[in-house]
Amino acid sequence: MDNLRQTLHKILLLLIGFVGVNGFFTSCSLKSNEKTFTIGMSQCGMDDRWRVEMIEGMNRELSFYPECKFILKDAHWNNETQIKQLEELIEQKVDLIIVSPNESIYVQTAIEKAYKAGIPVVVVDRRIFSDQFTAFVGADNYLVGKNAGEYANILLNGKGNILEIGFGPTTSPSIGRHSGFYDVVSKYAGLHYMEYLNKNWKAYEWEKQLRKRLQTNGSAIDLIFVHNDRSANICYNICKEFGLEKKIKIIGVDGLLGKDLGLDLVQKKKISATILYPTGGEEAIQIAVKILKKQSFQKENRLFTTVINSQNVSMMLAQIQKLNEQQADIERQTQKMNELNRIFSSQRNLLYFTSSLLLIVLILGGFLWSLFREKQKSNLVLAEQNHAISQQKDEIEKISQLARQATEDKLRFYSYISHEFRTPLSLILTPSEDLLQRKQFDVKEARNILQLIHKNANRLLRLVDQLLELRKLDAGKMELELHNHDIIAFVRDIVSDFSVKAKSQQIDLQFICPFTTLPFWFDAEKLDKVLFNIISNAFKYTPRGGMIHVTLLKNVEKIEIMIADNGIGMSKVEKERAFDLFYRGNQNISLGTGLGLALSREFVNLHQGEIELDSEPSKGTTFKVILPLIKPQNNLEVISQTAVKTREILEEVPSVLNTEKGPAHENTIVLIEDNLELNQFLKQKLEKNYNVANVENAERGWEEILSNMPDLIISDVMLPKMDGFSLTQKIKSDFRTSHIPVILLTAKGQTESQIEGTKAGADAYISKPFNQQLLEEKIKGLLVNRDRMRRRFSGEIINPSHLQKGERKFLVEFELLIEKNIQDSSLSVEKLSQELGMSRVQLFRKISALTNKNVADYIADFKVLKAKALLKESNKSIAEIAYELGFNNPSYFTTFFKQKTNQTPTDFRNN
Ligand code: FRU
Repeated sequence: MDNLRQTLHKILLLLIGFVGVNGFFTSCSLKSNEKTFTIGMSQCGMDDRWRVEMIEGMNRELSFYPECKFILKDAHWNNETQIKQLEELIEQKVDLIIVSPNESIYVQTAIEKAYKAGIPVVVVDRRIFSDQFTAFVGADNYLVGKNAGEYANILLNGKGNILEIGFGPTTSPSIGRHSGFYDVVSKYAGLHYMEYLNKNWKAYEWEKQLRKRLQTNGSAIDLIFVHNDRSANICYNICKEFGLEKKIKIIGVDGLLGKDLGLDLVQKKKISATILYPTGGEEAIQIAVKILKKQSFQKENRLFTTVINSQNVSMMLAQIQKLNEQQADIERQTQKMNELNRIFSSQRNLLYFTSSLLLIVLILGGFLWSLFREKQKSNLVLAEQNHAISQQKDEIEKISQLARQATEDKLRFYSYISHEFRTPLSLILTPSEDLLQRKQFDVKEARNILQLIHKNANRLLRLVDQLLELRKLDAGKMELELHNHDIIAFVRDIVSDFSVKAKSQQIDLQFICPFTTLPFWFDAEKLDKVLFNIISNAFKYTPRGGMIHVTLLKNVEKIEIMIADNGIGMSKVEKERAFDLFYRGNQNISLGTGLGLALSREFVNLHQGEIELDSEPSKGTTFKVILPLIKPQNNLEVISQTAVKTREILEEVPSVLNTEKGPAHENTIVLIEDNLELNQFLKQKLEKNYNVANVENAERGWEEILSNMPDLIISDVMLPKMDGFSLTQKIKSDFRTSHIPVILLTAKGQTESQIEGTKAGADAYISKPFNQQLLEEKIKGLLVNRDRMRRRFSGEIINPSHLQKGERKFLVEFELLIEKNIQDSSLSVEKLSQELGMSRVQLFRKISALTNKNVADYIADFKVLKAKALLKESNKSIAEIAYELGFNNPSYFTTFFKQKTNQTPTDFRNN
């Protein structure tokens, strides 16, 4: 979210930047054009060539000042219109006004108003009668009149009658021109100023008046001064009307170039002369720009005037022509410049645009770069976070794995506990049920049974005590009761308790100590349990003929009691977790040992000591109990000189199985149970009805199975090394033994275990504590079932469908073997068993168990079946069939066949 806000913020900044940059360039471009000005122009009229030329001149000049905007207004020779236009321009707040007044006396006030409003006013051509204007541009009309007068005198050689035609008494040029002309003419005595026709100019009244004069007194008129060339031309035409055009000389004003204009009229000799009166368009603009740009300028700007007559007209024309050409050149160049300017400005704009674009690209690039950097940074942060998360995940996984492990260990622990409880319970319940069912008691036997019950009840009690002690330890309520004892005597005493056991198991048990006495503070009850447990453990895993050495050593700091054996040892994992309360490894360690080790460590820890363990598989195990020589603090102390042995006298558990054989029975059972008492008890019970081969572990059990080929197998599940499930699997997957029913007998009562047992191929599953009668019924049931099957299959030969898969497979293989060797007349049981990898006895028993037939009968039956098939389905002769079935002569085959089927082969074929 923050990132998005930041990005938006940046984009906004970018846009502001973009607008700013554009603004910057626009302002640059304006600056280069400088400030713009508006010039307003009010022209009194525009329907004559002279005024058109004035405007053309202005426009030409304006083309040099693109910063000037020009507003042109035509007053159409109307004062009111011109006044209105001037007011509009004032209203518009133009920067400057150029005005050529129609009739100055009427429009003068409006001009003054503009001037007073602060708008500079440039008056052109026609003066006003006030100084309320900024500048004047125009020729001197008095001088124009004067020039005309002087030239009239020259033309008339100082003698003659003169008429003057003006364009109104209220227009300033006429006033000026008349004044100048009159002043000069009246100066010469020979010149006679006849009349000034100066009324109703606009209505062409003068033309009427002129005609009148020419009609009445035309021949008297020698020269006419007309105030502009346009009227001079009219004047000429009127004179022509009266045939006076040659007689009357005409002088005009303006001197413009063009058809029927001043110069043309002079050249064509229609008029004698024209007085040059420049329009002043260019000059007016030049002055206006100076004023606007605050440059110095002159208020009065008089334009040049001169007389153009037949002598100088050609030169004037040539000059004007030249001027016009130059003007055209200038215009062309101006055009070119404008074009160049246009290109320049478009290129400049392009440059601005490109630079703006470049700037934007740079800004965008910078922005993208910063985004990229930010992204990189956030990626880095993300990667770190990911790393941290995955570390946390790993840790959580580890913890949960530990938790899972702990739960599994706990579950396993409870399962073992129940197992440990179930075995003594079996040895209490089963014999007691046995006793209860009896009607008569043999005292000795009953006593033995009761002793067994008593012993196992005590074992249960001890287990319960140990569990309670563990709980106490767990709750931190266990305390030491310290007494000062001779620890050497104490340990020796414990070791000697095992001497009978050692002797019976032919184990070299020794107590080694370089000292005779050693008083030491310890809790005798707890240390007794520690040592008893460790030594018991050593006995459990040390084979007959092994050694167990207990050594006591001491230095200034500590006492070390080492219990070393050369038994089966422990794997690395078993060693690591030997003191772990909830771990029992793969071995079926009795609770006495498992709990004992956990308890032992706690007890030694209470003494502020340590237990160390060193073990290697099949080399042996050494436990080291290390006790510090300092007296533990804050414990109850009772000083006593005698160590009290708190445990019971060491039980006399049968250490060797009684495997003596009883009277022979029809069926043999292999019994595998690691609890020697239970093993013994079961053997005693079962051997009343069966031959019992009893062993204490699965390896021995397998050997017994292979050598005896029993009719049934009873096995415990929890066995050291190979457990009951693995053994069952081995039995069921070996074709020599797959037919033998297996009963799994175990403390594991849970459904999962039963499923596991069933999967392994067990035929029955009985959980401890079990009912002896139920067990025996189960055995009977399985054997009867087996007999029933055997009887049924003895009628069939090939593929008895009710057999188990493994057994069927065995029979198929066996039959294939017979088939392969069927032609061999000397085919024997030895040969077949050899090929099957079995002993003769094993094969015999297997076939007999599966089919209730001996091997020879089985082969014979197979040959009969094959003979029947060949007789019915082939065209082979009896002799051929006989040889094919391994009979040396056909008559022996016929005898054999008749014996088995009560028919001769020929009869069988024909039926
Ligand atoms: C044109 C004109 C010119 C003359 C000028 C005087 O309108 O009549 O011929 O010289 O005006 O203002």
